[in-house]
Amino acid sequence: MLERLTELENKALAELEQAAGQADLKAWKVKYLGRSAELATITAGLRDLSKQERPAVGRRANEVKNAIEKAYEAHFESLRAETLDRSLREERLDVTLPGRSVSHGRVHPANQTLRQIYAIWAEMGFQVYLSREVESDEYNFALLNMPEHHPARDMWDTFHTTEPGVLLRTHTSPGQIHVMRERAPEPIRVILPGMCYRYEQITARSEIQFNQVEGLAVGRHITFADLKGTLNAFARRMFGQEVRTRFRAAHFPFTEPSAEMDIECFICSGEGCQVCKRTGWLEILGCGMVHPIVLHNGGYDPHVFSGFAFGMGTERIAMLKYGIEDIRYFWGNDLRFLEQF
Ligand code: PHE
Repeated sequence: MLERLTELENKALAELEQAAGQADLKAWKVKYLGRSAELATITAGLRDLSKQERPAVGRRANEVKNAIEKAYEAHFESLRAETLDRSLREERLDVTLPGRSVSHGRVHPANQTLRQIYAIWAEMGFQVYLSREVESDEYNFALLNMPEHHPARDMWDTFHTTEPGVLLRTHTSPGQIHVMRERAPEPIRVILPGMCYRYEQITARSEIQFNQVEGLAVGRHITFADLKGTLNAFARRMFGQEVRTRFRAAHFPFTEPSAEMDIECFICSGEGCQVCKRTGWLEILGCGMVHPIVLHNGGYDPHVFSGFAFGMGTERIAMLKYGIEDIRYFWGNDLRFLEQF
């Protein structure tokens, strides 16, 4: 029996050496220290032994049990230390690795241009007034001297809503009436920026949505000379001190007289090229003296007050300033385009 115990001890210790992981260790423990392990069977069978044999075998069995238990603890510890060591080694955080660079967002070119335009008008004493994008037929047309069925309404292809008389504004001009009704009879100097919508074929030169910046000045002695001087000052600040401008007669139902302002083509300096369609000039805005009916609709007596108004397309101006050939880039969400600004 004593020999058997020694054999058992050696076998257990040898096998323990081979245990390479937690799973092996567990199996080993069941096999040698578990309830139905041979050692347990021997201990349980002690009472069947003779009186002479019992003490020696019992002592020896205890020794073996203690020895292999100790070996188990030691092996368990070293395995644990090894695992910890490996995970510390392999999963180490290398704080010297270069970080992932965060890509910065930037202001959209249309908004950059809007901000430049705001800054220029702010210097000249114009406040920013925000007006709604969903408008009534009345404000978008009727109050601007275009009653129902007026043929001039055809100049603006309109998105109508399912609600009769409610539409997406086709220009920022309805804002003129809103400001006037709010401010009358005080003098006014404001710009009205914002998104406009037109039910049009999308091409390189026209989009169904675009920003406009409207301008409105109302006072007692405002003349066409003020309009020209102010817009010339704007053009010089926006496009450079040297830029030449010209005013062409035009027609808008809400201004009288009306004009369009061109700037000299800065690509060809007036020689004629593809961008200016060989005319040497680029159109940048519509303008005019506020029509007496519009002044009246806004709550100003046209016999006492006069005013000028203008409207410019932000994206068109950005296209001219940066040489962008296609307006569709603005809402195309292509980062290769947007990141150039
Ligand atoms: N609202 C006009 C347009 O969309 C522009 C304009 C504004 C013209 C103010 C004259 C005065 O085209």
